[in-house]
Amino acid sequence: MYYPDELVEEIRTKNDIVDVISGYVRLQRKGSSHFGLCPFHNEKSPSFSVSQGKQMFYCFGCGAGGNVFTFIMQYENYSFQEAVKFLADRAGVRLPEADYGGEAKKRDTKRARLLEVNKEAAKYFYYQLRTKSGQAGYQYLRDRQLSDETIRKFGLGFANMTSNDLVKYLRGKGYEDGLLQEAGLAGFDEKHGMHDKFWNRVMFPIQDSNHRVIGFGGRVMGDGKPKYLNSPETMIFDKSRNLYGLNLAKSARQNNIILCEGYMDVIAMHQAGFTQAAASLGTAFTEGQASLIGRYAREVILAYDSDGAGVRAALRAIGILRGAGLTGRVLSMEPFKDPDEFIKNRGREAFAERIAQAENSFFFELRMLQREYDLKDPESKTRFYREIAKRLCGFSEEVERENYIQAVAERYGIGFQNLRKLVLSYASQTGFASPVQRPKSGMGRKDQPAENRRKSQRLLLTWLVEEPSLYPRIKKYISPEDFTEELYRKIAVKLFEGLDQGEMNPAAIISLFTDEEEQRQAAGVFNTRLEELSGKQEREKAFHDILLAVKRNSYEYFSGQLGADMAAVNQVIAGKKALEELSKTHISLD
Ligand code: GTP
Ligand code: MN
Repeated sequence: MYYPDELVEEIRTKNDIVDVISGYVRLQRKGSSHFGLCPFHNEKSPSFSVSQGKQMFYCFGCGAGGNVFTFIMQYENYSFQEAVKFLADRAGVRLPEADYGGEAKKRDTKRARLLEVNKEAAKYFYYQLRTKSGQAGYQYLRDRQLSDETIRKFGLGFANMTSNDLVKYLRGKGYEDGLLQEAGLAGFDEKHGMHDKFWNRVMFPIQDSNHRVIGFGGRVMGDGKPKYLNSPETMIFDKSRNLYGLNLAKSARQNNIILCEGYMDVIAMHQAGFTQAAASLGTAFTEGQASLIGRYAREVILAYDSDGAGVRAALRAIGILRGAGLTGRVLSMEPFKDPDEFIKNRGREAFAERIAQAENSFFFELRMLQREYDLKDPESKTRFYREIAKRLCGFSEEVERENYIQAVAERYGIGFQNLRKLVLSYASQTGFASPVQRPKSGMGRKDQPAENRRKSQRLLLTWLVEEPSLYPRIKKYISPEDFTEELYRKIAVKLFEGLDQGEMNPAAIISLFTDEEEQRQAAGVFNTRLEELSGKQEREKAFHDILLAVKRNSYEYFSGQLGADMAAVNQVIAGKKALEELSKTHISLD
């Protein structure tokens, strides 16, 4: 659903940011701002500020920031659309209904019924675990060293020996047989009639990231087969788009997610304090799961079993993570099989150490690759190096590639220049992977100059936000096109538009971005602390320098594009003139 800008703005203005955030964070007024402990990182003294005037929040500790939508997106892990909906509800603003009725409505009702019946079943199993007939299940879980607290937190339960007691129970609650079958909770055959799918198993309810029960895994207590029985895929249970434990892991705020294979591994890790653990649901890791994780963390630590199948699964997962723009590291559980066993034997500190030592996924791949070559044989060794060079071409960003070439050269004792040449020669045949497709990191190839460019553009915007009265004095020299960073240009267009009318509304500008990261960066622009420059002269010089730097960068940027189009030529001519004039002009800050 796409909501028009005006509607988004209406919803924003009807949700005062201090009111909204006060519902989550205890805030204290200090001067023109409210301060509290940042909910997005661990801290002891408050560096999280909320400004009523600007209708924005910003954390000076971790750089989290944005408007009221950003806050809800980050805190509740919502998408922009979901945050809009949430805040519309809160303020009683009616959203236009999507074309609704007929089939769509039926589907929604069915989904709701499936979710309901799953929830009832989960409650039933949970209750059974605490009865006499559930004693065996409870004992099994306790023997596996799960605490009562953990059992409760994961809503673990028990399906007892009777073959149709759940069916009876749910029928009694008014659920029809067809629904029970569709939910995968019961089956039907001529001989037995309606019967429970799960019996005599400990039950693991599977929840989606909004804590709704969408399916179950049931484990035999002992060595029976199959070890786990899982719910089939249903209208509400898509195994490729959900992860076990993510509903809890998403709030761990660790910047990483530990990905493992088993229910018990997730639970053991959470119990040991690693609450960012989640597992794929008995199937191979998918792109859908990767993008789900991407909403909550940038780094994934793979904690797959240490056997051959685990290694193969990890190698596959690394590729998928890379495709989703996430970084991966690989945890070694040696000499144990999985996280559950490791933690049982070595404890949480040792596990934390392993996390810290988790191997960069590229090096992990190389190490696995190396096992296929005989490095004592020059022929084989050469082939290995060639393969490395080929893979190094996979890094499209020059800086990153060079860093990896250097690291690999050191690690394998290959001459840096030799390896670099080899990489370049492969690249000349095949090209680097998808040449520099990193929209958010700007157009710079070399990091430092790019960062300097970004910085001066950011500072200029910040300065104008802080002192809007300067705008009329500089608008002659600067236009939004001078901001060569796309994000900053978008901000400048809106900011200048407002300033032309004598208005400044940074929080509205932030809603123009629906991406959390872009919102954060935009908020950064509006909240950077300008360096404390004391004297007037000093400040004037600094401002002038920033202005010049932005203008010069823009001039160079457009000159670089000359020959491409007339617009660039004009921009350059105008830019040169403005630059000359500007360098001789004194701009007063009074
Ligand atoms: P424990 O033996 O209880 O420690 O289980 P685990 O969590 O270590 O599971 P394991 O590593 O054996 O398997 C990983 C995951 O694969 C499980 O959590 C299940 O999701 C799935 N799985 C394992 N065995 C079976 C099975 O027999 N059938 C199905 N459908 N899935 C299984
Ligand atoms: Mn296990």
